[in-house]
Amino acid sequence: MLSKTIQDALNEQVRIEAESSQVYLAMASWAEIQPGIDNITAFFYRHSDEERMHMLKLIHFINDRGGFAVIPELKQPSLTFPSIKHALQALLTHEIMVSESINNLVDIALTEKDYATHNFLQWYVAEQIEEEALARTINDKLELIGDDKGGLYLFDRDILSVSVVGSTVE
Ligand code: FEO
Repeated sequence: MLSKTIQDALNEQVRIEAESSQVYLAMASWAEIQPGIDNITAFFYRHSDEERMHMLKLIHFINDRGGFAVIPELKQPSLTFPSIKHALQALLTHEIMVSESINNLVDIALTEKDYATHNFLQWYVAEQIEEEALARTINDKLELIGDDKGGLYLFDRDILSVSVVGSTVE
């Protein structure tokens, strides 16, 4: 059985994962109407789906342990971006925020002596290391390209292999 403290903290993470899915979905929709970045667009859509999966995993865990997963209200994310670089920087910043939130959850689980939840959260700890590393790699590559249009074309081709290799989501 989950304590109220743990249940509330997990439900807050449900909200954050749902919000992440929305944030990346908005990036995907914006990217889709920009010319020549089909794979970046696909990357955002896939990332949005992964976040929904992270949310569902939490929902099932809460409910399976005798709690009640609350489906949250979501605020509208940013809809447009000055450039693809801005969108990908925002993605990295967002992932860093998610990592902090997961670390905080781990802290709460330990304080509450809820070792089952602590064990469950290790998947998210590992996932965040992967996601942050992937976002950093992508941003580093974009930094190298600068404003070179030909570079962006190659980057779009490249992001496919980077994101497939970097993804641990099943
Ligand atoms: Fe589910 Fe990218 O954090």
